[in-house]
Amino acid sequence: MVEAIRWEEGVVQILDQLVLPREVVWVPCRRSDEVADCITTMKIRGAPAIGVAAAMGLALAVRQEEAESAASLEDYFAAACDHMSRTRPTAVNLTWAIARMQDRFRQVQAEGLPRVREALTREALDVAREDFETCAAMGRNGADVVPEKARILTHCNTGSLATGGAGTALAVVREAASRGLVEIVYVDETRPYLQGARLTAWELAQDGIPQRLIADNMAAFLMARGQVDFIVVGADRIASNGDVANKIGTYGLAVLARHHRVPFYIAAPLSTVDMAIASGAEIPIEERAARELTHIGDIQLAPEGVDVWNPAFDVTPADFIAGIITEKGILRTPYWKSIADTMGSGGGGRRR
Ligand code: MRU
Repeated sequence: MVEAIRWEEGVVQILDQLVLPREVVWVPCRRSDEVADCITTMKIRGAPAIGVAAAMGLALAVRQEEAESAASLEDYFAAACDHMSRTRPTAVNLTWAIARMQDRFRQVQAEGLPRVREALTREALDVAREDFETCAAMGRNGADVVPEKARILTHCNTGSLATGGAGTALAVVREAASRGLVEIVYVDETRPYLQGARLTAWELAQDGIPQRLIADNMAAFLMARGQVDFIVVGADRIASNGDVANKIGTYGLAVLARHHRVPFYIAAPLSTVDMAIASGAEIPIEERAARELTHIGDIQLAPEGVDVWNPAFDVTPADFIAGIITEKGILRTPYWKSIADTMGSGGGGRRR
């Protein structure tokens, strides 16, 4: 299976998703700020993968020489966490992973730098390993609700490139395919950043899963023709009432799914749940550069200087969601209750 990130003896290796699928290039990061830069520039992206990268980046921070010479290790680490937290705003896995590393830091801080280094490295590797296992569990839980001969529609990239394992929505697709349930996967190209066309199509091709690429505006007609049986997408942040922020275009698919009576599922680990917010209205939505719309690569499509709105995510109200596939099972409406019950019984995620 493709990997997005690796820990190699104190070096974080990040597969550069800016040049995929044309080139496979690994970027070695030896410093926390190099990892932060890879997140900001989207060399690595996807909510769980961002969390894994942040954890590994903070493990690097305390291994750097500056950690030895810092007047206060606590202040030095706090600054590294603060820098990491400013990389991207929407995926709460980032906040969750940083909080987890901060907790571990506080537990071992008094035991000296060698112990801090060892404990934070181990914690980051645990974050990665747990995400791998979480993906597999989501895959198993989600595949149980995929119908036979399923024609599945998905959006953005939610696979190995976006997580530390088989993926979120794509883990469900992979497991369903291995059970012989998948007829075809329709891959939304995912304008404007094209994570579907560039990354998901590449991942599915590696696995030999049958797929067909469509432009986002073709999904409605495809559903009108009765050619979609099941939709599954990921999430960047889930509010405590079940509203979901995910890649721009997800909300439109959910509305279409309701109209055409196609089950619309979210697949996400509990680390994507933000119990500190009441609804999707509180989720910060990243707005990205105009150039992503006005250009494809170096080719200019739109007139010079045209005004552009480019939100990277949208919010799907809980009411449109048939189920949220997690590592602990499928959460159903009323989500405020199923989420609270699951998080209360030891789930991950950000807490109030
Ligand atoms: O802007 P991106 O590419 O980081 O957005 C990724 C998504 O929206 C995914 O659907 C999401 O992270 C959930 S699945 C890993």
